[in-house]
Amino acid sequence: MSIENVLITGASAGIGEGLARLFAADGARLILVARNATRLHRLAAELQQLHGVEHVVIAHDLAVPGAAKMLFDELLLRHLRVDVLVNNAGFGHNDRFATIPIDEQLAMVQLNIATLVHLTHLILPQMIERREGRILNLGSTASFQPGPFCAVYFATKAFVLSFSEALWDEVREDNISVTCLCPGPTRTEFGARAGMNDNWNFAHASMSTADVCRIGYRGFRRGKRIIIPGLVNRLLTFSVRLSPRRAVLRIMRLWQRPKTLAPAVVVQRSEPVATSPRVTPARENARGVPAGLATSSVEHSAGE
Ligand SMILES: NC(=O)c1ccc[n+]([C@@H]2O[C@H](COP(=O)([O-])OP(=O)(O)OC[C@H]3O[C@@H](n4cnc5c(N)ncnc54)[C@H](OP(=O)(O)O)[C@@H]3O)[C@@H](O)[C@H]2O)c1
Repeated sequence: MSIENVLITGASAGIGEGLARLFAADGARLILVARNATRLHRLAAELQQLHGVEHVVIAHDLAVPGAAKMLFDELLLRHLRVDVLVNNAGFGHNDRFATIPIDEQLAMVQLNIATLVHLTHLILPQMIERREGRILNLGSTASFQPGPFCAVYFATKAFVLSFSEALWDEVREDNISVTCLCPGPTRTEFGARAGMNDNWNFAHASMSTADVCRIGYRGFRRGKRIIIPGLVNRLLTFSVRLSPRRAVLRIMRLWQRPKTLAPAVVVQRSEPVATSPRVTPARENARGVPAGLATSSVEHSAGE
């Protein structure tokens, strides 16, 4: 039997690295992709020493347009077949939509959605032709409802779940499984990168990376469509389906609101303002917007 080739995006840290360890322990040959080449080479060397299989490292920024095609061309050049595709690389940012730099949010859409779709579209035809293949996409408990103060991130993860489920149905007759792993807060580098270190859920209700990967890997091997690790996460996502959308939004707002918000968008005007500007409510000020900004400036409606 030929060795299983597993391509994992975002394999240099967190869940991607954890899954890489599990695939390697089962004898797979890994194609490890992320930006940090040093980390990827260190992981590849360690896993080769442990399990005796040589792995492939491709250092690549997947958040730029065309990244998936460049990666695919590299695979062709090296004659690398992909039996399992793990679309794991992703990031979030916790703040007002209006104050997070637009380049960063577009990079998030590019990485979390566009690269995932493009890579899948490039690799899937070969799987269909062989009538064999597996895809594991990283969704989130964020996939199940909108997330104020993480608006774009939650929307990208809703896309990933919807896309994965539709694809699961399309390709199962081709003997291909598509799984969407939807973890809740997990102790990886994600929280710090997203600016969510002071988020209550991350601080008090997060799962270990090892547990999430173990549950995700087992469900993936069984060909499950959706995997939500942890009883609390499963109950929460289930309760969202039964609750009024407005109530869900209010709760998510409380959970997701950062303790310290970046200053709201400020428009400096040289002319007197003709129309009534929106006045920053006092309670918003008490939550961290510098008082000077709210009183001396006109503010776009960013959060309320
Ligand atoms: N941790 C959580 O609470 C949580 C919960 C639900 C879902 N998820 C999802 O799980 C997935 C993995 O996240 P994680 O928690 O393991 O986060 P992490 O520890 O920050 O790891 C993210 C991985 O993605 C890679 N990556 C980031 N930007 C990239 C880019 N531009 N090009 C290529 N690779 C890039 C990173 O490597 P480099 O920096 O080396 O590029 C790293 O290997 C993400 O899709 C995330 O949305 C996480």
